[in-house]
Amino acid sequence: MIYISPSLLAADFTKLGDEVKRIEEAGADYLHLDVMDGVFVPNISFGFPIMEACKKHCQKPLDVHLMITQPEKYVERFCDAGAWSVGFHIEAVDDPMPAIELIRKKGVRTCLTINPKTDIHSLDPYLGEVDMVLLMSVQAGYGGQGFISESLDRLCYLRETIDARGLKTWIEVDGGVNAKWAPELWKAGADILVAGSAVFKASDPIATIDELKQE
Ligand code: DX5
Ligand code: ZN
Repeated sequence: MIYISPSLLAADFTKLGDEVKRIEEAGADYLHLDVMDGVFVPNISFGFPIMEACKKHCQKPLDVHLMITQPEKYVERFCDAGAWSVGFHIEAVDDPMPAIELIRKKGVRTCLTINPKTDIHSLDPYLGEVDMVLLMSVQAGYGGQGFISESLDRLCYLRETIDARGLKTWIEVDGGVNAKWAPELWKAGADILVAGSAVFKASDPIATIDELKQE
């Protein structure tokens, strides 16, 4: 099964409710929420008020991507605000386990995220500890960037390692995903594709989501 998680960052924020509805009706499986703190990444996006508004207006599970320092301070609040999954960056912590445990205790899906330049092997010890890994295919911080093609090799490595170890860990790919890259990403073993600009800026999001789901 293949899933699409459109990133709200590319929505028109002057009509958030309508945008969420439009994308839900277009066949989105999840809604991806990019939370940026201006410290871990050089950009500030949104936080709890937007997350809570989305929770009220969106029937789809909320897939929360935290680009923040000290995620262990905030993960429980995102869980309580109704997240389906909460992910944070491996680069943001010395040890990801405390934050993973906090999310797990809330009964929310745990996700560990990795930036393009970080050694992919740094995820190895945690592949069996999380429900999902989020492989960034652009440097975290901004929507609308171009897909980094080397991400495909990193995805293949993760898929092979996860399968070889008999794990059920999902792989989500995020950044610059469009209909050109989607078939290769499915082939390489992605479970969820995040797509911001490709979906929200499309004139026909139904057709775009359909296209992104073509294997
Ligand atoms: C980047 C974010 C992505 C981004 C995706 O830091 O994590 O989720 O918004 O947007 P596109 O698909 O436009 O690259
Ligand atoms: Zn994201």
